[in-house]
Amino acid sequence: MKNPRGPIERNIALELVRVTETAALAAAQYLGKGDKNLVDGAAVDAMRFTLGNIEMDGIVVIGEGEKDHAPMLYIGEKIGKGSGLEVDIAVDPVDGTTLTSKGLPGAISTVALSARGTMNYPKQFHYMNKIVTGIEAKDVIDIRATVEENLKAIAKAKKKPISEITVVVLDRPRHEQLLTDIRNAGARVKLISDGDVAASIEAAMPNREVDVLMGVGGTPEAVLSAAAIHCVGGMIQCMAWPRNKSERDAAVKKGIDVDKIYKTNDLIDCDDVFFAATGVSTGELLKGVRYFSGGAQTQSLAMRCKSGTIRWIDSYHNFKQLDKRKFR
Ligand code: FBP
Repeated sequence: MKNPRGPIERNIALELVRVTETAALAAAQYLGKGDKNLVDGAAVDAMRFTLGNIEMDGIVVIGEGEKDHAPMLYIGEKIGKGSGLEVDIAVDPVDGTTLTSKGLPGAISTVALSARGTMNYPKQFHYMNKIVTGIEAKDVIDIRATVEENLKAIAKAKKKPISEITVVVLDRPRHEQLLTDIRNAGARVKLISDGDVAASIEAAMPNREVDVLMGVGGTPEAVLSAAAIHCVGGMIQCMAWPRNKSERDAAVKKGIDVDKIYKTNDLIDCDDVFFAATGVSTGELLKGVRYFSGGAQTQSLAMRCKSGTIRWIDSYHNFKQLDKRKFR
């Protein structure tokens, strides 16, 4: 879909990096302290504050949940200074709150932005079944095909044997059969305990450790992943994964097509897409927050779909200076 309000001319991803940096710095204070609510709360506060200072007329499309449960960054909340760009915003102040609370690798803070009305997702469903790969194999995957068929097609497109294809999968009991199928097909497996946004980006980028992500993860995370995948030129395909019969029946009753396949363009239907992420704890994709005397260093990604530019940004934060403001 073309942006009916005209193209977004400024690279707002650079402004979004300040948002994810602030949230990552806030969350990282609670690394390993065993309390995921503290991690999330600090990141949400920081993200809400910095997003509010951006010159835009934003609506939170993916946030912390419905208003009654989420006092901030709730779905439908207006955010930004209220003038300028009319945009949809998807946030995950920390993807990997448990990782952070346990001091484990791979947690990131992330935000995506696109033209108003272009982020679509089946929010009735908690989970979606996903397959993600990069540009070389983007046209050969099919979420309806068998695991073996997909892996064969990816291996052929990437010109290497299946034995050299690595599949990243969330380590969950629901993936027992998937893991058997991947192993029977002869591919390698990398299990992660949380954080499928970072893993999806890894799978979509060229020359990384993993070639494809498979399995069931959060629905909001699918849209955030789609924003980054749009920018790097890979592909995500996903389908609703109802947790039980009543979730499925409720959706059917509302006229929702439970069997619809969502591709990158179905989740975000425009090229005016921007994505930013900052590492909270060090993982394959991004380094986490590292402290030095009087400050900290962060590593972030800023992506813009239209230009295809991907920036890794290393920032040094001087706490003395930042303490003069409300947030670090
Ligand atoms: P949170 O940080 O919000 O807890 O999400 C982490 C995460 O691993 C996501 O990356 C993933 O999509 C989802 O949880 C998987 O859900 P579940 O843990 O219920 O299997």
